[in-house]
Amino acid sequence: MTSPLERLEHLRAQSRLGGGTERIERQHAQGKRTARERLEYLLDPGTFCELDEFVTHRATEFGLDNQRVPGDGVVTGWGEIEGRLVYVFAQDFTVLGGSVGEAHGRKICKLLDLALENGAPVICLNDSGGARIQEGVDALAAYGEIFYRNVLASGVVPQISVIMGPCAGGAVYSPALTDFIFMVENTSYMFITGPDVIRAVTHEEVTHEELGGPAVHSQRSGVAHFVGPDEESTLELVRQLLSYLPSNNAEDPPYVSTPDPPDRMEEALDKLVPEDPALGYDMHEVIRYIVDEETFLEVQPGFAQNLIVGFARMGGHVVGIVAQQPQVLAGVLDIDASDKGARFIRFCDCFNIPLLTLADTPGFLPGVAQEHGGIIRHGAKMIYAYAEASVPKVSVITRKAYGGAYIVMSSKHLHGDICLAWPTAEIAVMGPEGAVNVIFRKELQAAQDEEALRRELVLDYREKFAHPYVAAARGYLDGVIAPRETRPRVIQALEMLRNKRVQRPPRKHGNIPL
Ligand code: HXC
Repeated sequence: MTSPLERLEHLRAQSRLGGGTERIERQHAQGKRTARERLEYLLDPGTFCELDEFVTHRATEFGLDNQRVPGDGVVTGWGEIEGRLVYVFAQDFTVLGGSVGEAHGRKICKLLDLALENGAPVICLNDSGGARIQEGVDALAAYGEIFYRNVLASGVVPQISVIMGPCAGGAVYSPALTDFIFMVENTSYMFITGPDVIRAVTHEEVTHEELGGPAVHSQRSGVAHFVGPDEESTLELVRQLLSYLPSNNAEDPPYVSTPDPPDRMEEALDKLVPEDPALGYDMHEVIRYIVDEETFLEVQPGFAQNLIVGFARMGGHVVGIVAQQPQVLAGVLDIDASDKGARFIRFCDCFNIPLLTLADTPGFLPGVAQEHGGIIRHGAKMIYAYAEASVPKVSVITRKAYGGAYIVMSSKHLHGDICLAWPTAEIAVMGPEGAVNVIFRKELQAAQDEEALRRELVLDYREKFAHPYVAAARGYLDGVIAPRETRPRVIQALEMLRNKRVQRPPRKHGNIPL
């Protein structure tokens, strides 16, 4: 007869062991940690409190009654990161491949309910073969319930997914519904249908890695926001991201005092923009010069690099930065950049993170592929997101702001709060060459020396339009500033806007073009 305490210890040991030593060794051999080891890396030491350690499935089909493991393949609970409450779950691949059955799903749902009711972020460590085949429709039901809660929690608490193994089929949609997806190099992949199905259906040959590995999702599809070289650094990156986020939508993001003076001027910025408008420069440098030292955390750094988005601190307060990168495609706005920017803006707006926009863009990218790919509806997302955002919005036009892109990039007309420009700013319907070709077409055709006349007209146009002073004279810009003054001027503006409150007409929700 075992004593009650011995029985508890026995069950606990069973739960801790998951799918057994052999499968744990297999997991380690693949460069993967177990669910519990991952939680140890992620959370502050000694803070993890487990829930539902003894939950088991009740399915009996296909011999599952012989494979009942306490915990049912997912470790759930709460803990702390830098002393702040977070809810976490980690799927245990050693138990039935981390597959999601009814009980496994219930555990995750309980956690999501707690996170929502108590206003703290959820971190989901995914490592799973997907819906548990033996549980049939109950497994699908479990996913549906998880998706529903992911949607309910969206915009209320930050939700972070870390892909640490397979994530395939409909299972990808829980991470896709969360705010940020992290992937681990070499050991994680995500796809709706795997290489075998693809080979059968479309006759394409592709590996797991080529189809849905971290490189693909962080550079081409835009599905993943961060990639770490191994599990430890990826989990460290999750901790870093959380340091910029409030626990819920009713809180402000955490303030961290900084030794970096708010009135610091940077002379180097005055010389950064090249005289030749065709030459690029590195917007990362502008960001580095103006934010609190070493605080910029770029989101989706490998995807749509013509637009930079990320979090930083200015005067100790968190800002979300949206900035064109003139070094990539001249900072043009295309489909991917619009999707990337709009989603980031909406995240910041959900979680009370003020927006700083640094604009230098010749406009939307021309081309058949872009038009047929739907640049109209994708570009509209940026307008929608900026107009909808009620957080403080500060912008600085560093150089080009032509056409629709001028309006889009947090302009006064979309109710940007403070709009500034450098003296190098060029604000007009279109660039000088394009404009001259349209309005002086007849004169150019009739000219004896067409090129000479074009040069003269371009110069004249530059003189009249390619500067910020027409916009400043109308009050569309609140000021023209020397580049070196950018940090203090932006910090002053953000400080002034700290208590901004905006009333919007009542509605169920808007209908953003998707
Ligand atoms: C039940 C599963 C499972 C699953 C894996 N296992 N996936 N059990 N349901 N979905 C079990 C295996 O039987 C095995 O058990 C253990 O987990 C480890 O799996 P292996 O195949 O040995 O591991 P590995 O070689 O690393 O391959 C991993 C894998 C592969 C690529 C994930 O297992 C696989 O292809 N699984 C099926 C994936 C899949 O099609 N899932 C359904 C997706 S559709 P033992 O006892 O040997 O350790 C979906 C719909 C969601 O998820 C719908 C939401 C709307």
